[in-house]
Amino acid sequence: MKNMQASTFPLADSMRRLGTESAFVVLARAKALEAQGRSIIHLEIGEPDFDTPEHIKQAAIESLRANRTHYTPAAGIAELRSAIAKYVQQTRGVSVLPDQVVVAPGAKPIIAAVLMALLNPDDEVIIPDPAYPAYRSIVTYVGARPVSLPLLESRDFRFEIDALEAAITPKTKILVLNSPHNPTGGILTAEDISAIAAIVRKHDLLVISDEIYSRHAYDRAFASYYGLAAMPERTVLIDGCSKAWAMTGWRLGFGVMPLSIAEAATALILNTVSCTATFVQDAAIAALTGPDEPVQEMHDEFLRRRRLLVDGLNAIPGVTCRMPGGAFYVFPNVSAIEPDDLKLADYLLNEAGVATLGGSTFGPHGKGFLRLSYANSEENLHEALRRMRAALATYKRS
Ligand SMILES: Cc1ncc(COP(=O)(O)O)c(C=O)c1O
Repeated sequence: MKNMQASTFPLADSMRRLGTESAFVVLARAKALEAQGRSIIHLEIGEPDFDTPEHIKQAAIESLRANRTHYTPAAGIAELRSAIAKYVQQTRGVSVLPDQVVVAPGAKPIIAAVLMALLNPDDEVIIPDPAYPAYRSIVTYVGARPVSLPLLESRDFRFEIDALEAAITPKTKILVLNSPHNPTGGILTAEDISAIAAIVRKHDLLVISDEIYSRHAYDRAFASYYGLAAMPERTVLIDGCSKAWAMTGWRLGFGVMPLSIAEAATALILNTVSCTATFVQDAAIAALTGPDEPVQEMHDEFLRRRRLLVDGLNAIPGVTCRMPGGAFYVFPNVSAIEPDDLKLADYLLNEAGVATLGGSTFGPHGKGFLRLSYANSEENLHEALRRMRAALATYKRS
């Protein structure tokens, strides 16, 4: 009998164009070290360490008890799509129809469905660099071309508006924005948004505005591109429950988009996952319509940790770290110690037991930086800083 495990059946060529996400790769390596008995502090994965608020869990339990365990319409149940439309009105000041809302198991599949629904081979998509890896991965997977828009440390990881205009060609179809930003914690200002919106209108582009960290803006009120640009006919809003309500494992994301794109994205969801778990959709209604205190408490805790981590990193010789305006990441510059950020991240994992991500895994302009998530306790953050300081003091560049 043929040994199926040893067989190397040829994969589709397109698989060579699909990327990965370093957070999941490093998490697996860190877990393997833990299994060998090593103590590891996890600053690599981007998920709140808090428990999902009680009223949301309760809603899911009640939903299960009521046997809400069957298929739903592919784009989501009507009650949730209405609740999302109301939430978007409240938080962005834009009035949208429930039919413009698409629900999926996470924001990630919405991003993929929208890109797949819109892109032809050779279309160009402008993507901030560094960026959340899924954008570039799906763009190259479908045969389109990602175009880098450098984020500058000197501008608190915002891009130059002139650089955006210079990156546009007749093939440019989509601009991806992500504010607050993964991996740098940078945010777009209201002034940035009006300048970007003017360029988008002039060049007839569509914007995918990934606002999944909208509840994690710290020093000033969150400036939403979706809300401020107020061009719902040429904007796709990406959001979800993962980061705001500590619900990463529940898998609930949503997008709000022009009707024709919503229909196409729904067709892709229908053909892949069919729909999102019914009781998870019920829990999402509780998240969106329930008390806001749990979100506020997490926000205040993140604020304290951000200060602790930034101050601690800046006290390490050779490390400089900007104060990020949002999300729950810091993006320190470590190039004075080691320009090869991947090598340094490896060293910190193996020698200090601190799991971080090399900035260049998010794009070439992340080179020389590390991404650290502060979704971890103050105690662990203190310990991570202590370990990093000691390990970096004896680091030898080869
Ligand atoms: C910028 C950004 N967008 C989207 C996502 C996807 O979130 P989820 O699929 O958990 O909703 C993430 C997760 O890390 C992210 O950082």
